Amino acid sequence: MTKGSMQGKRAFIAGVGDDQGYGWAIAKALAEEGCEILIGTWTPILKIFTTSLQSGKFDESRKLSDGSLMEIARIYPLDATFDQPEDVPQEIRENKRYQAAPNYTISEVAQLVEKEYGTIDVLVHSLANAPEVKKPLLDTSRSGYLAALSSSSYSLVSLIAHFGPLIQKGGSVLSLTYMASERAVPGYGGGMSSAKAALESDTRTLAFEAGRRWGIRINTISAGPLRSRAARAIGFIDKMIDYSHANAPLQREMAAEDVGAAALFLSSDRSAAVTGTILYVDNGMHAMGVAVDSPALAADEPAHA
Ligand SMILES: NC(=O)c1ccc[n+]([C@@H]2O[C@H](COP(=O)([O-])OP(=O)(O)OC[C@H]3O[C@@H](n4cnc5c(N)ncnc54)[C@H](O)[C@@H]3O)[C@@H](O)[C@H]2O)c1
Repeated sequence: MTKGSMQGKRAFIAGVGDDQGYGWAIAKALAEEGCEILIGTWTPILKIFTTSLQSGKFDESRKLSDGSLMEIARIYPLDATFDQPEDVPQEIRENKRYQAAPNYTISEVAQLVEKEYGTIDVLVHSLANAPEVKKPLLDTSRSGYLAALSSSSYSLVSLIAHFGPLIQKGGSVLSLTYMASERAVPGYGGGMSSAKAALESDTRTLAFEAGRRWGIRINTISAGPLRSRAARAIGFIDKMIDYSHANAPLQREMAAEDVGAAALFLSSDRSAAVTGTILYVDNGMHAMGVAVDSPALAADEPAHA
């Protein structure tokens, strides 16, 4: 890809709250190619994120290849569980952090972006949340399950519904998913596996609907394990990284930049005919049918190298 291939384009990236996760790496990969970056940060962590950014805490990770620092044109507070102001319950409305950062529902953020910037070319959904993620699905409450779906899956539907009219024809929407949607991964609980299955199915349906309505593309990246803040909260991320190293075709640790590079392709005009697809960026883990480090296989010949 040539330098500056995203010059003149603008991206809105929802779900960046520090410099450790996939959203940040995607922002950087797009910025590296000249894309203007707008960010949506979860309302309760907006202050800590902006303070850390302003204090220079992220300067090292903001560095682009020419030595300049990635610029973030604007950071919007965003709570992707709410579509309209009237959806926000009283206790949240009265919460200090929410009061300090108003206009955080999806419709309000889309209106603000339209007012301030007119259009965007790229929309990235890099967020997920499940209050009961540590519980097996069997022990997950109805409200925990629905909360996982609301913040991790319906949020994509709503973001596309509200931002769709602002996205330039041929533009790209991208989300992040995980293999637990299609294969059982014990530990990825609270309805998060269900939420990712919904996200992937919706990627196909929304690709058709938004393709026909606005001429835009919808794809999702199924990413391998990364030690992000969200993944550390689930609790078994180190084991998943070790498991992937032991069993994936490529024995290398995932870097957030691997996903950034794939996201750049899916956000650029190079992927003009790619929509409704799941791109696996996971060192090939999804292709495996057995765990090659299983003791059950050890008695026999070692797996072919
Ligand atoms: N880390 C992994 O191993 C891994 C693997 C596959 C897929 N993913 C997916 O990648 C995406 C990004 O996660 P990450 O692991 O980089 O962690 P992350 O912590 O960097 O990103 C998750 C973000 O979601 C935000 N968020 C949570 N609830 C929100 C809400 N209601 N409104 C707005 N923002 C909200 C959090 O504040 C956080 O910034 C998620 O969809 C995640 O499921 C992660």
